Amino acid sequence: MLTEIATLGTEPDAISLSKLPYLNAVCAETLRIYPVGMLTFPRITNESISIRGYEIKPNTVVMGCIYLTHHREDTYPDPHLFKPERFLERQFSPYEYLPFGGGSRRCVGMALAQLELKLVIVEILSHCQLQLIGKLPIMPVRRGVTLAPNGGVSARVKSKYV
Ligand code: HEM
Repeated sequence: MLTEIATLGTEPDAISLSKLPYLNAVCAETLRIYPVGMLTFPRITNESISIRGYEIKPNTVVMGCIYLTHHREDTYPDPHLFKPERFLERQFSPYEYLPFGGGSRRCVGMALAQLELKLVIVEILSHCQLQLIGKLPIMPVRRGVTLAPNGGVSARVKSKYV
């Protein structure tokens, strides 16, 4: 990823930065393994529907579980391993990968959030090398309706580039 970021030069523009394949794969895998929103917002069925043998009556509240979808062994072999390469090897459908939900109520901030994530990573990694400190591995915990690192993530600046 560092080699890829180095190709951006000293004043990277947002468009080139957003197109870096490995950076994109790292961000996608991060949101797969620990999706910030574990569940979609609720939906209410207008009519009865059958999903994989489950009959759901009209006026039933249903919520998609993003976390469980992202941890299906058949879609993501070794689902608990962080493997950005998955996103370089194949494309996932909106039914397999949905960190921002789906359909007409999908997150309106998706494009902004994805760009922001990449901008922050490139800004940090172009200027310094970080080293994780504290107890590892850092496990996620539920924080309200979101998932977050237990106790935060502490890192120290190991070296700085000019
Ligand atoms: C990594 C960052 C973010 C993640 C993982 C995320 C995830 C989600 C998810 C899972 C939903 C539910 C979608 C559904 O039920 O289908 C949602 C909805 C929403 N998000 Fe985000 N979001 C993020 C950032 C943002 C940002 C930056 C904004 C605003 C600038 C935003 C605004 C919204 C709004 C307004 C909705 C409700 C959409 C609706 O009900 O029509 N989100 N988000």
